[in-house]
Amino acid sequence: MKREGLYLQNARSIAPLPSFWGMGAEFHWVYWGCLLTANGDQPILEVKNLKTHFFTDKGVVQAVKGVSFALANGQTLGIVGESGCGKSVTASSIMQLIKSPPGKIVAGEIIFRRQKRRAETIDIAELDPKGIEMRSIRGGEISMIFQEPMTSLNPLHTVGRQISEVVELHQGLGRKEAMKVAIDMLDRVRIADPEERIKQYPHQLSGGMRQRVMIALALSCNPSILIADEPTTALDVTIQAQIIDLMEKLQEDFGSSIIVITHNLGVVSQMADFVAVMYFGRIVEYGTAIDIFRNPQHPYTVGLLESIPVLGRRKEILVPIEGIVPNATTEIAGCAFADRCPHVMAKCRERLPMPSRVAGEHTVACWLHTDEEALVN
Ligand SMILES: Nc1ncnc2c1ncn2[C@@H]1O[C@H](COP(=O)(O)OP(=O)(O)O)[C@@H](O)[C@H]1O
Ligand code: SF4
Ligand SMILES: [Mg+2]
Repeated sequence: MKREGLYLQNARSIAPLPSFWGMGAEFHWVYWGCLLTANGDQPILEVKNLKTHFFTDKGVVQAVKGVSFALANGQTLGIVGESGCGKSVTASSIMQLIKSPPGKIVAGEIIFRRQKRRAETIDIAELDPKGIEMRSIRGGEISMIFQEPMTSLNPLHTVGRQISEVVELHQGLGRKEAMKVAIDMLDRVRIADPEERIKQYPHQLSGGMRQRVMIALALSCNPSILIADEPTTALDVTIQAQIIDLMEKLQEDFGSSIIVITHNLGVVSQMADFVAVMYFGRIVEYGTAIDIFRNPQHPYTVGLLESIPVLGRRKEILVPIEGIVPNATTEIAGCAFADRCPHVMAKCRERLPMPSRVAGEHTVACWLHTDEEALVN
């Protein structure tokens, strides 16, 4: 696929693709877009009106308030937003890794079109998180890379054993063959001397190396979908760039679809075909990476872009967004960004803005752009 530069340094590509977008059922559940992708295939993953809540002593945390998007085969979707916006809870919901109690997927569908074994369509939200089907999907078909490698690496086992165990379980290989796959995977993530490294324990590796091992682990079963949650946050800039290159190369080799979750728009500009901007548990803007980076419409997206380094602009004029994301237990009737928004109007505080189409795939939920005629429905 030909990649076109965006205005961020090292930015790459975009490809046209239909998508879905939605908001909470408080007002009207919205679902739009063509069901078919550019090449006629259906999206591998469709999240429809997902709501995940945590029932805590301090009240109900509505972490995800009705999120919808689609992921096409071989494409990368970036999910961005500040800390606490519901990105990780969205990812954990897709993996059925929400700890219950206190968490629960209270509404929505997570439609996964399986590519392996049986080509069936399944609603992950309906599956028992601990059941055999979900266990086979998790790790075998959908893998996740976490921000902190030690979340998924076992300190008591060598890295070779950990990767080969996954391969044995999901590919049905014997121990010897599985260990060969483990060596090959470490080689693919460019770990030198993989025959020796497989004998080491996670604590014997550097942070960047552990991240690579986790990517190797996540990709060792050739997952149809890779979810990378803040994959580079803990790493220095050079290693970050290497990890991004690595994920892109592995996507080319394995054809996986990727959801990359980050508060770092620079990472998204380099990797994503499509971008969903999340705020307070909802997607507030959605579009191709070109839409989002060249023609941002939501004041929150504009704020995010103004707060990161951009090619050709001096660092001193970076403008952080004032204020903070509201507490997740707060009930907000209108736009959750109102207290921080330089364009706030009276109606913003009264009614939740509905998603409105800007052009093509590009949609935004903001009263500045809500033209009743263009509402997505
Ligand atoms: N186990 C939990 N119990 C209660 N609240 C939670 C839990 N996990 C996440 N949350 C809340 O859900 C909201 C979204 O969190 P998260 O998805 O982790 O944000 P992000 O990944 O965008 O930084 C936050 O307000 C967070 O405090
Ligand atoms: S709806 Fe109003 S408060 Fe919210 S982002 Fe748009 S202009 Fe700002
Ligand atoms: Mg997170």
